[in-house]
Amino acid sequence: MANRLKIIRTVSSLRRALEPFRRPNERVALVPTMGALHRGHMALVREAQRRSERVVVSIFVNPTQFAPNEDFASYPRSFATDLKALRDAKVDFVWAPSVETMYPDGFGTRLAPEGAAKAGLEDEFRPHFFGGVATVVAKLFTQVLPDFALFGQKDYQQLRVVTQMAKDLDLPVKVIGVPTVREPDGLALSSRNVYLSATERAVAPMLYRVLNDCAARIKNGEKIDRVLNVGRIEFDLAGFGLDYLEARHAVTLAPISTSKDGPIRLLAAVRLGKTRLIDNVPV
Ligand code: PAJ
Repeated sequence: MANRLKIIRTVSSLRRALEPFRRPNERVALVPTMGALHRGHMALVREAQRRSERVVVSIFVNPTQFAPNEDFASYPRSFATDLKALRDAKVDFVWAPSVETMYPDGFGTRLAPEGAAKAGLEDEFRPHFFGGVATVVAKLFTQVLPDFALFGQKDYQQLRVVTQMAKDLDLPVKVIGVPTVREPDGLALSSRNVYLSATERAVAPMLYRVLNDCAARIKNGEKIDRVLNVGRIEFDLAGFGLDYLEARHAVTLAPISTSKDGPIRLLAAVRLGKTRLIDNVPV
């Protein structure tokens, strides 16, 4: 093994490890993840390295963002493979607290994000989700105190919620959104893609295809409502269960009815068998 990768498990050792990084010309970037790393996560790491001298990756499957009926227990975990990828990428260290370290007995604080977190998109289907994400990300930010934090545009509403949370709490961190990394057929990389059967995997790229079609037609001047209705029918014909297909303001995520109210982001969530897929594109 060439370079050894330090894995840090307690807040006090995290503080000690970060101390030498707090020099005037050194910036620290944080890449928060739940592990099961793929090329999407690694694109965040590369962007972090481009912006900062030091890069910390956190791996923590956060129980507070999963509802009781969701997949916390079975969420894909591949710690050893993740460490190898991060060592090869030469990150500075991995912050991997246990659930007890993150949420010790008596833990009693939970953020209740509003604004983008109440846009009527993911929050409609996962009402507990952004409270859990905002709480854990606020903790990660105050633990690591990074100059930059990198998030994927793949989870677009999450990116907006975290950006607003950092601003609202005056946390001195710049949140950066990184473009979605995709399979050659357009399917956005996701840790949950492993749940797809071969047949489901074959139709999954339709999600991105329909989103792109809709974006092109809106750009061409077609009426947004009409375009989205056709998109919804296309999802139905492809065999997707549709949670939502929406055109929203790219920053506030407020509903939008004409292109003049833009910039526009199209966001969709669909169900394919037991797997839920989300994706989004700019217009
Ligand atoms: P996780 O799903 O592991 O994702 C970690 C980061 O990787 C997120 O910012 C996500 O948007 C980004 N990401 C995932 N797939 C991507 C892709 N195909 N292209 C680019 N980026 C991608 O999101 C979470 O974890 C958690 O909610 C977390 C923010 C860590 C809080 O627990």
